[in-house]
Amino acid sequence: MEKQTLLKEIDESLLSFLPKEEGLQKAVMEAVNYSVLAGGKRLRPMLMLLCFRMFGGKDDSVWPFMAAIEMIHTYSLVHDDLPAMDNDEYRRGKKTTHALYGEAMGVLAGDALLNLSMETALTAFLAAPENKHIPEALAILYRASGIYGMIGGQTVDVETEEDRERDAATLDFIYALKTGALLSGAMTVGATLAGAGREKVERIRRVGDLAGKAFQIRDDILDVEGTFEELGKPIGSDEKNHKVTFVSLYGLKKAEEEVAQLTKEAMELLDSLEEEHNDLKELLLSLVDRRK
Ligand code: IPE
Ligand code: IPE
Ligand code: MG
Ligand code: MG
Ligand code: MG
Repeated sequence: MEKQTLLKEIDESLLSFLPKEEGLQKAVMEAVNYSVLAGGKRLRPMLMLLCFRMFGGKDDSVWPFMAAIEMIHTYSLVHDDLPAMDNDEYRRGKKTTHALYGEAMGVLAGDALLNLSMETALTAFLAAPENKHIPEALAILYRASGIYGMIGGQTVDVETEEDRERDAATLDFIYALKTGALLSGAMTVGATLAGAGREKVERIRRVGDLAGKAFQIRDDILDVEGTFEELGKPIGSDEKNHKVTFVSLYGLKKAEEEVAQLTKEAMELLDSLEEEHNDLKELLLSLVDRRK
């Protein structure tokens, strides 16, 4: 199916899981909806869906999971932008959540999105009662988001932010967890829900880990040589925070080579799987020289 059509379906599904803005607690609902609907590439739901279909998945279990991972990802961005973290004013071309609704609502909207992600993912049991893989998929998603995944990576990122000694091994750890975990989590959840065997899921996880690291290095590159108009978020956020990144450590040229090399390895691994994966491959390849 065409990518634009899929993106539209993803957004419609996501919207159906978002709260109505009503009641005395309306402010947090507005902040939640604003954060999610501000835009975004929807990369993680798309990866999840393509992996689900690659392994022959047909039921409706994947849609709640796709919405859930986008909620988790969005909350990670809302909190990442807070004054206590990267302190950024723009995201997805709009004011960041805390900049518009205040810091307290930024914290609460992030919390609310994490909670809503679970409420949403759990509806997979109703959407596809016969699918036996939902508990495993839940475990993968929430491990990838937590202290052994995204939160763990963000922790080391803020802790060693200004650390001139921050070396390649620490960077590797940070990128694998703060970004790689959710990307490979998206892909392994898709494969798992489709009933792919353990060995194949493991291979997909490694593809996601490689693509995830490449994705974060590209993000660092764009922080230096992107434009605000294309990216929708401020350029130079890393420098402002005195952050040691792959780019500050090795330079732009080496960073670009690394993105290409990691993607090449990911593609070789992906190609070792017999299941048809043209769409997935095309999407992952398009990330190498993305401008947003
Ligand atoms: C940004 O993620 C944060 C990183 C992990 C680098 P995306 O680049 O996927 O952000 P959106 O969802 O498109 O806004
Ligand atoms: C954050 O990395 C990744 C997350 C888990 C949120 P960055 O701090 O570099 O992400 P951007 O550049 O603000 O999107
Ligand atoms: Mg950050
Ligand atoms: Mg940031
Ligand atoms: Mg960045």
